Amino acid sequence: MAHLRHLVGLFRLLFVFLTVVTAQTDASPKDTLLDIELDYGTFRGAHAPAYNITYWTTLPFAAPPVGENRFRGPQPVLPVSTTSSAPYNCSRPFPMCPQREDSGDEDCLYLGLYGRPWTKDEKKPLRPVVVVFFGGGFIRGSAALGLPPSAYPTLNVSDTNDLLFVYPNYRTNVFGFLPGKEIGEDPYSDTNAGLLDQKAALQWVQKHIHAFGGDPDNVSIWGQSAGGGSVVAQVVAAASAGNTSSEPLFHRAMANSPYWPKTYRYNALESQRIYDNFVQSVGCNKTSEANSTLACLKALDVQTLRTASLAMTADREATATSSYVWAPVLDDTFLRKPLSSLVRDKDAVVTSAFATYNTHEGENFVPTWLFPKKSNSSDEDEFHNWLARYLPDLMANDVVQVNKLYPAAGDVVGKGDEAYAAYSANNPFGRAGLVYRDVTLTCPAYWMTGLTQNNSTTWIAEYSIAPAKHASDTYWWNTVNKAQTTDPIHYHGYAGAIASFFATGDPNVHKLTAPSVDSLPDRSSEREWTVTADGFSTRSLAQLEKRCNFWLSIVPRLSA
Ligand SMILES: *[C@@H]1O[C@H](CO)[C@@H](O)[C@H](O)[C@H]1NC(C)=O
Ligand SMILES: *[C@@H]1O[C@H](CO)[C@@H](O)[C@H](O)[C@H]1NC(C)=O
Ligand SMILES: *[C@@H]1O[C@H](CO)[C@@H](O)[C@H](O)[C@H]1NC(C)=O
Ligand SMILES: *[C@@H]1O[C@H](CO)[C@@H](O)[C@H](O)[C@H]1NC(C)=O
Ligand SMILES: *[C@@H]1O[C@H](CO)[C@@H](O)[C@H](O)[C@H]1NC(C)=O
Ligand SMILES: *[C@@H]1O[C@H](CO)[C@@H](O)[C@H](O)[C@H]1NC(C)=O
Ligand SMILES: *[C@@H]1O[C@H](CO)[C@@H](O)[C@H](O)[C@H]1NC(C)=O
Ligand SMILES: *[C@@H]1O[C@H](CO)[C@@H](O)[C@H](O)[C@H]1NC(C)=O
Ligand SMILES: *[C@@H]1O[C@H](CO)[C@@H](O)[C@H](O)[C@H]1NC(C)=O
Ligand SMILES: *[C@@H]1O[C@H](CO)[C@@H](O)[C@H](O)[C@H]1NC(C)=O
Repeated sequence: MAHLRHLVGLFRLLFVFLTVVTAQTDASPKDTLLDIELDYGTFRGAHAPAYNITYWTTLPFAAPPVGENRFRGPQPVLPVSTTSSAPYNCSRPFPMCPQREDSGDEDCLYLGLYGRPWTKDEKKPLRPVVVVFFGGGFIRGSAALGLPPSAYPTLNVSDTNDLLFVYPNYRTNVFGFLPGKEIGEDPYSDTNAGLLDQKAALQWVQKHIHAFGGDPDNVSIWGQSAGGGSVVAQVVAAASAGNTSSEPLFHRAMANSPYWPKTYRYNALESQRIYDNFVQSVGCNKTSEANSTLACLKALDVQTLRTASLAMTADREATATSSYVWAPVLDDTFLRKPLSSLVRDKDAVVTSAFATYNTHEGENFVPTWLFPKKSNSSDEDEFHNWLARYLPDLMANDVVQVNKLYPAAGDVVGKGDEAYAAYSANNPFGRAGLVYRDVTLTCPAYWMTGLTQNNSTTWIAEYSIAPAKHASDTYWWNTVNKAQTTDPIHYHGYAGAIASFFATGDPNVHKLTAPSVDSLPDRSSEREWTVTADGFSTRSLAQLEKRCNFWLSIVPRLSA
């Protein structure tokens, strides 16, 4: 390991050396217009003519979270030793935070950004900014940008939306989400470190984005899956800070299929068990002093932690419950209140919000042993067997309600609600999928759009193009593919609405489809926008609202 570190160090030195040499011999005037001087270094960007963008793919935004700073919220970024004649080379990839075995680097708090061609002598108005959090269940993922960069089709869908996209890394799994009283009580450690990384990136944007032509007063946050859950977390954190918070770090929120697993208090039994099990699994349980287990974790080799973190996730996935172990927790400093209590108290923070969900996406998260059996009675048993594992605290009365709202013969009650088609033939897999979808993905999306100030307009969309599984919708806005030319209606309609939301705060203002095509209805009209194989239409939200209200009414048994 020491050997490897040595090599990595050498490699980095080599990079610095190369940067210096090329910068001194090959500094064209065009390049220097992409040299951005910040108070901690000079950062050189690049153009990509093939995609007509300017980009900075590697900018450090916090100190490396290593040594004593492992499991600790991000610390102020360290000065980079550059000069105007030898700037920091920003056009190279950065490492992912530690996750899969043998991959990533703890020194991972970097962000990348890109937008349409821009140089620092630009006189045009500052551009709206979109900060994107990656998905990956809070256990994996990376913000590293390639060419074409993520979300490129959302920028390129029209010339109208001049957006600046920012992709920050954040710590995942044990490195970003280790709960427990030892963490909460230690002055050199923080619960929700991964979410604090995101917040630090938002603070970086407030301080520095104008230097890249971005408008700090016009910031959207965006994400899909755990990236959407991250958006929920930032909204919840800002709202639960109440009037103690100063200037807002963002103004709009968009979440696609936000993954919002149960949120326990950092020192609840469930959280403490995670800490204790982890400590045991890496052999840090040998001593009994109050904080020495934590000191042991901080001193351990990164590979040992990564392997143990992965093993705990795999165990939990096998037991078919909801989470990947590592997830946001409630604490007294950042996530002070659960989402549900903000919804009930109507605490609000963003001025506009847009959320989407996919019809069948819950099925990605429920076990396949729920596939229909031959006998109906055993199907019923299987469903309740699963439900008891997924939500073990439900009371008998709650289960009666679940049976009413999610009946075994879904086609009877669910007419008009496409979701029920998933199990219209008495299918416990689809039925469990819908329960999971509502509790962990769709109701959080619905609830988040209720957290806006002054009754501002918000929007909900349901993506139903088969298979409409988790992440199916990313096809239309995240990656360059043939659909952008073969199916311009769906591309312009869906990616166009998202881009319009970021540019104007309203998905309909820069609408790219014909006037006859349905626009997005306000959530206050109790209708949602649907994306189907045939195009776009609207549908009543009444069924979903009824089910989400039920879950809200029993929220202590959900930990939502
Ligand atoms: C910056 O790094 C990239 C990727 O390693 C490399 O291709 C490029 O030549 C470097 N630029 C300079 C000016 O050193
Ligand atoms: C690149 O984008 C700019 C707008 O930022 C536009 O003026 C220019 O025509 C584009 N160039 C190409 C080759 O598309
Ligand atoms: C970007 O949009 C332009 C204009 O529609 C199109 O010609 C070009 O192919 C798009 N680029 C990519 C990489 O999709
Ligand atoms: C914050 O709220 C508390 C209680 O709601 C109130 O007493 C206090 O004056 C408020 N502070 C500010 C700065 O608005
Ligand atoms: C530490 O955990 C291991 C593995 O679970 C166990 O075998 C051992 O007895 C524990 N040691 C102490 C001191 O608790
Ligand atoms: C806790 O651990 C830190 C080192 O991580 C040490 O400096 C401190 O003295 C310890 N405190 C107690 C009460 O053991
Ligand atoms: C299962 O239920 C369906 C209708 O709900 C019924 O037609 C069928 O006979 C039942 N099968 C068994 C084995 O009970
Ligand atoms: C909400 O309305 C109040 C009173 O009109 C105003 O002071 C406040 O700035 C508004 N908030 C937002 C986010 O628009
Ligand atoms: C929001 O709307 C509700 C119901 O229409 C109303 O009671 C409330 O006063 C409104 N709040 C604001 C801040 O406008
Ligand atoms: C954000 O920028 C867009 C485009 O420049 C502008 O239309 C909008 O009014 C801005 N919003 C705010 C809140 O400044």
